[in-house]
Amino acid sequence: MDLRALLREIYDFPKEGIVFLDITPLLGDGKAFHHAVDMMAARFADANPTKIVAAEARGFIFGAALAYKMRIGFVPVRKPGKLPYKTQSVTYDLEYGTDTLCMHEDAVLRGEKVLVVDDLLATGGTLKGVLKLVETFGAEIAGVGVLVELDFLNGKDSLNGYSVQSVVHVGTPDKKPS
Ligand code: PRP
Ligand code: MG
Repeated sequence: MDLRALLREIYDFPKEGIVFLDITPLLGDGKAFHHAVDMMAARFADANPTKIVAAEARGFIFGAALAYKMRIGFVPVRKPGKLPYKTQSVTYDLEYGTDTLCMHEDAVLRGEKVLVVDDLLATGGTLKGVLKLVETFGAEIAGVGVLVELDFLNGKDSLNGYSVQSVVHVGTPDKKPS
């Protein structure tokens, strides 16, 4: 199944000069979404994680589906002020400025095997932040997985040495049609 064909390039979103890769055509196709989740799960068949950790918002889509398929727990990583119980947080650098992510302080146990998931790897900033947060819990990273990797941004180089499993690799986008 050609999952790449269901990823739509949107020029100048969210701002001019950016080509946004829209996953909603894939999500809206039941067979394709099912296949995509199966493909992601297959990459981690031997990793034996006990939890999936994923950041809002799009990370929840694949993280929750994978957790269900693999029959393991799901841990939401959220922006500040969204989680109701005591949290642990991490602030990490972005290209311009910083961002903060939070997790419930009892969400992951020391030594627990955790799979970190997102929909897409671009610069790697988001996954880097989630990995940093999971590390503060003393958990073991059993794997890192995304549906789509934008190869030309080399985001994998910023993942603190962790390797990432990507189902779809996307090259440099075509020039905007005039
Ligand atoms: C998108 C996407 C990834 C991240 C990838 O999330 O879902 O999480 O960007 O980019 P990066 O590798 O450069 O960090 P975004 O923060 O746009 O928001 P959303 O998931 O809430 O839609
Ligand atoms: Mg995201």
